Amino acid sequence: MKIKVQKNIKHKKGILVIPLFTKHNKKLPSNLAPELKSFIEDRIKNLDIDLKKESFLHSFIDLKNHPNQILLASLGEKDSFSSKKARTFGGKLVKKIKSLQAEEIVFFESDKVFSDHSQSFFEGFLIGRYSFKKFKTKEDNKKEITVFSFITSSKDSSLKDSIQKADIIASSAELVKNLVNSPSNEVHAKTFEKEAKKIAKANKYKVAVLNEKDLKKMKWGGILAVNQGSHNEAKVVVLEYNGATNKKEAPIVLVGKGIMFDAGGYNIKRTGAIELMHQDMAGAATILGVFDALKALNIKKNVVGILPMAENLINQKAYRPSDIITMLSGNTVEITNTDAEGRLILADSIHYGRKYKPELILTIATLTGASSVATGNRYASIFSNSESMLEKLKEAGAAVDDPGWPLPIHEDYKKKMDSEIADFRNYDKGTGGIAGSSKAAAFLEKFVGKHDWVHIDIGGTAFTNDPRPFEVKGATAHGLRMILKFIERIA
Ligand code: BES
Ligand code: ZN
Ligand code: ZN
Repeated sequence: MKIKVQKNIKHKKGILVIPLFTKHNKKLPSNLAPELKSFIEDRIKNLDIDLKKESFLHSFIDLKNHPNQILLASLGEKDSFSSKKARTFGGKLVKKIKSLQAEEIVFFESDKVFSDHSQSFFEGFLIGRYSFKKFKTKEDNKKEITVFSFITSSKDSSLKDSIQKADIIASSAELVKNLVNSPSNEVHAKTFEKEAKKIAKANKYKVAVLNEKDLKKMKWGGILAVNQGSHNEAKVVVLEYNGATNKKEAPIVLVGKGIMFDAGGYNIKRTGAIELMHQDMAGAATILGVFDALKALNIKKNVVGILPMAENLINQKAYRPSDIITMLSGNTVEITNTDAEGRLILADSIHYGRKYKPELILTIATLTGASSVATGNRYASIFSNSESMLEKLKEAGAAVDDPGWPLPIHEDYKKKMDSEIADFRNYDKGTGGIAGSSKAAAFLEKFVGKHDWVHIDIGGTAFTNDPRPFEVKGATAHGLRMILKFIERIA
């Protein structure tokens, strides 16, 4: 889709969108054609549209140099309009335009708020435009939006820049969602490797791939144990971006869970839960999405991305409940539940990440189903060993409406992850059901050492049946905007 910034409406094609606030009851913008003004005034007078409530009114009008389809969008009070509302409206608008099957949209900025919040507005529009069609072999004959003309009198030189940023973020989100929505027979560790190399090449990042042979040599015991039941090789992809002005500055290390399918292993998942588990690589996909955007957004930070990739399946070689494994860190772990596999591959990756002497380690994972019980499907559950970092992460998520909400890690939860016969255990058998997300985080914290660490559990938000206006059913890319904003702010 092409986005054009223009001063005047001089389009015949497509649909003309005019957002209206309550104040427009009294005064419409002076640069609207007089016929159009009186048309809108009549709609308001006749109560065809109520400017106090959020709604759309679709209509037709024949006017010189104007599209003949009109969509009035009532948005309520201007004073309560915010960046969050702009993003939400962008999402609602794109869905409305799609349902009307218009190919061109002429958006008349009736109030400067849209150029003030242009990045959020375009994020909502561009992210909300997504649909997952990769596996449909027949064209659906639905028309796609090809041109967006933004009509504004704003002279703000950063406008185009903000629109471009929104475009970068939306296309990274699309990459994440396409990976997460794809089934495991189509998207697996090799696909991620290919995608990572493509991103590295396009951006001149460093990239390294650790194959199973390397992992064995280096003794990545966690990821190797989890992958024992799979025919596909385990892999770890490491990406490096050097964006900091001081090239020697300590990087931040991002780790994303890449379980290509989580059957649960011998602690097998039930019907109803298992079918979703091709999406258990959403953390790794999100980190790829971050790397897709880092350079384009010109973020001034050194960043290392670690993507551990494995499958949690069953065969005669699969790891068993009661096995004791030795992790990359040298610690032994008693496997009390083979379905608590994510923490094992993350723990090895965290340990590996420490060799970069990072300023901070960030982990993101569809780590626990308990996360959706604790913080639902709007907030990711977030954790940290640093209160100030936790606050920064929360603030970053809130700023871009990609939110996380803090959960605690009690000292006793950490103790619950100790084993009687090994150093640690991967699941608290006794009181396993309670504070499940916190205990998973407590397990990870054992591998972090003295480094600052933040952790995002997207178990409740990575995919949805209850989409927000700028989301559709399926993958959400939750965490992507939060992480990008967080890195930008600590840079
Ligand atoms: N991948 C799952 C967590 C998950 C479940 C994410 C549903 C999203 C939706 C994870 O590996 C897992 O199986 N966790 C178990 C942990 C338990 C065995 C300690 C869970 O959540 O039940
Ligand atoms: Zn699992
Ligand atoms: Zn899992």
